[in-house]
Amino acid sequence: MANDTLSVTDNRTGKKFELKIENGCVRAMEFRQMKVDAEDFGLMTYDPAFLNTANCKSAITFIDGDKGILEYRGYPIDQLADKSTHLETAYLLMNGELPNKTQLDEFTNKITLHTYVHENIKQFMDGFRYDAHPMSMLASTVAALSSFYPEARQVRNKEVRRHQMMRLIAKMPTLAAFSYRHSQGLPYIYPNNDLSYTENFLTMVKSIGKPNWRPHPALVRALDVLFILHADHEQNCSTTSVRVVGSSEVDPYSACAGGITALYGPLHGGANEAVLRMLREIGDKKNVPEFIAKVKDKDGDKKLMGFGHRVYKNYDPRAKVIKKACDEVFEVTGKNPLIDIAVELERIALQDDYFVQRKLYPNVDFYSGLIYEAMGFPMEFFTCLFAIPRTVGWVTQFEEMITDNEQKIARPRQIFTGSKKRDYVAMDKR
Ligand code: SDX
Repeated sequence: MANDTLSVTDNRTGKKFELKIENGCVRAMEFRQMKVDAEDFGLMTYDPAFLNTANCKSAITFIDGDKGILEYRGYPIDQLADKSTHLETAYLLMNGELPNKTQLDEFTNKITLHTYVHENIKQFMDGFRYDAHPMSMLASTVAALSSFYPEARQVRNKEVRRHQMMRLIAKMPTLAAFSYRHSQGLPYIYPNNDLSYTENFLTMVKSIGKPNWRPHPALVRALDVLFILHADHEQNCSTTSVRVVGSSEVDPYSACAGGITALYGPLHGGANEAVLRMLREIGDKKNVPEFIAKVKDKDGDKKLMGFGHRVYKNYDPRAKVIKKACDEVFEVTGKNPLIDIAVELERIALQDDYFVQRKLYPNVDFYSGLIYEAMGFPMEFFTCLFAIPRTVGWVTQFEEMITDNEQKIARPRQIFTGSKKRDYVAMDKR
């Protein structure tokens, strides 16, 4: 539009400024010219937790939070969940287009040939206590991987960078499976290159004493759909962490370790584990009203875990797909009784003013844990099941950041609220 500008008057000086509006944004640096005198640093923008700050331009994932829309490279998430596979979606996210058969076969083969980890990694795993949280083990061993591939520091060499990206996608299931087996006191199962990505993962996790044991195909498909749903989600907390850590030009393993630790938090990927703990605490449908009352009590500290989202102010489209997948999984595993409590919680919350006014809807974590538990995973492992597929988003966003000429090392400013200059006080004067 002709007048895509913001007219600003600095009332401290009476000066007027015309700021360009691009992509619905104004560049924060435009405000630095607004000074009261030559000494003045200039204005900054203040946005704790980046509620209203775009830190990058990205072509990977589009979300419309008000309409509950999620698209990977333009493809609606429900279509990909219905028709695609995790590795095909990974190719799409990394390359921007759906692969043809040859491209997908090559991509799958490359991933398959990188599923093994260096034997020394087992010593890291063995160093953890039996009850170490798997996310802690995953973060540590992914960070350690960078010591096995020193060439990964060549982040601006596309061939080297892509090689590490493939390694990370390929090895995450192996590391997660190893951490599970360690926590269960079971021997590690090595990757089987004859199996598909998700079938191989479930086999490394679940196979005991039967070399030819294979997971139920319906469970493989259900988990692969969950992997598709979790693959990327634009600038969420963990992806932002990967971008910020990666902006120092550290290798992608170290940057992804930062993503894993951010995802671990209960407000982010750790919410799927927290939902199950919450459902267990409620214990029965009849206790739901009492629990909802506790959540609404401003003096209390209860949250309705799995509800709410920084961007979605409508139903998370992923939650709809996951809720449907519950039925398919329960046909094989038997119904998880906790789903009745979850459905009742959703029913009441969606009609309660507290949640309606705050536009709190079920998010991706609300139903996913019910499936993971029905598949026999312990709660502590749920967030690892989020980290495995999100590795695709992390490495893709890492590459987009590294190749974006506008990006440089992330280094925000601050508003200083501390003590003014003062002289040191000798001990006997304190
Ligand atoms: C993920 O960003 C992503 O894309 C993340 C993710 C991805 O794919 O990467 O989608 C995955 O992390 C999903 C979110 C999983 N987390 C949870 O389910 C934890 C419970 N949810 C909340 O902690 C919260 O909703 C957040 C963290 C998800 C969002 O928090 P915001 O955007 O900072 O919102 P807020 O805390 O400012 O809440 C606004 C209001 C507050 O009430 P008032 O102060 O206005 O009275 O809503 C309330 C909050 O107290 N509120 C909740 C609530 N979430 C927000 N009240 C009760 N239960 C909740 N779950």
